[in-house]
Amino acid sequence: MSYQNEKIAEVADVLHRRLEKLENKTDILKATELRALYAEIPTLSPDQRASFGQEINALKQELEGLIASAEQAAEIVEPIDVTAPFDVNVTADRRPKLLPTQLGGRHPLMVELDEILDIFYRMGFQAVESRQIDNEYYMFDSLNFPKDHPARDDYDTFMTEEGLIAPAHTSVMQNRVLKEHKDSLEQGKPIAVVVPGRVFRNEDLDARHEHTFYQLEGVYVGKNVHVGHLMATLKEFMKAYYKRDVEIKTQPFYFPFTEPSFEFAISCPFCDKVGCNVCGEGWIELLGCGMIHPNVLKEAGIDPTIYTGFAWGVGFMRMAMIKYNIDDIRHFESAKLEFLRQFK
Ligand code: DAH
Repeated sequence: MSYQNEKIAEVADVLHRRLEKLENKTDILKATELRALYAEIPTLSPDQRASFGQEINALKQELEGLIASAEQAAEIVEPIDVTAPFDVNVTADRRPKLLPTQLGGRHPLMVELDEILDIFYRMGFQAVESRQIDNEYYMFDSLNFPKDHPARDDYDTFMTEEGLIAPAHTSVMQNRVLKEHKDSLEQGKPIAVVVPGRVFRNEDLDARHEHTFYQLEGVYVGKNVHVGHLMATLKEFMKAYYKRDVEIKTQPFYFPFTEPSFEFAISCPFCDKVGCNVCGEGWIELLGCGMIHPNVLKEAGIDPTIYTGFAWGVGFMRMAMIKYNIDDIRHFESAKLEFLRQFK
C-alpha cells in the first residue's frame, strides 16, 4: 500500500520492517511512531487534517490486517506422521530391533520419589498414593474454596462435561486422609501422611511448566501442632534430600485450605546464597504450605478447637531438577533415551 503523505509513508516503511522481526506482532500498534502521527493531527490546519487522519487510519488498518494474517499462519499446525517409522509388511527379522528389557531402568523420578518417601518414613510418616480422577468436592469444596471463588481458576483444571476432574493438586487427598485417620487421632495418635501423585493442569508449556507433573502432599495433625513444627519438618526434609544444611525463608501467601499460608524457599544447596545458574539469586522457592484451615478439619469431622495441623504440597520434579541441574521439566515425560540414560 502506498501513502501520499511523505511522513506517513516513511513511518509505514519503518513499521513494516519492524513487524517482520516482532515476536508479539500486536505490539506494533503501540509503536511510538504511530502515536506521534496521531498526536500531530490537532496541530494541522483543518484542510490537511482530514486526509492526514484518513491515511493514518488506513495505515493502522493495514497493520491490523498484517497482524491477523501472521496470527493465522502461526496457527497452522504441522500434521504428525502417524505411520510406523518402518515398513510394517516386512518379516519380523527385517524390522528395527526393540530394546531388550534388561537394558531398561527405573524412571529417574520414581527413583527420586523412593528416596523422598524413605526420608518421610524415617520421620514417622505413612504414604498413600493420590488418584488420577476426582470430582469438584475433593478438588475444591472440601478444601474451603468458596463456590465461584476466583481461586478456583488458579488451578487451570481439566474437567469432563460430566464434571469429573483430573486432579490439579494432590490436596484432593486431604479430606480423605483426615477422615480415614480421624479415629486413631482421637485415640491419641497424630496423623502423619504423605501423598505422592500425578497431577494435571491446562498450562502453557515451557521449560518450567508441564501439563502433567508430580506433587507430594504432606498432612500432619495432632494436639498443639504449630508453625514451628511445619518449618522444622520441611527443613529436615530438605537437608536430608539435598544432603546439605540449608536455610529456609518463608513469605505469606494465600491458599483457601491453610491459614496462615506460606511460600517456602531454601537457600541454594550449591552456591550458599551467592547466586548461581541453578538458583539465580541464592534462594529457591519450592513449595506452598501452611496450617490446615479449621474449615478443612471440620469438613472431615475433626474438631479444630482440639486439634491443629499443617500441610504442604511440593512439586518434586522441580526438587529433582534442582538436584541434578535439569534445565527443562519436559524431559521427564519425553521418553528421550539420551535424557533417561544419564540416570542409569
Ligand atoms: N495444593 C497447592 C498447589 O498445588 C500446594 C499446597 C499449598 C498444598 C499449601 C498444601 C498446602 O497442602 O498446605 O498449589
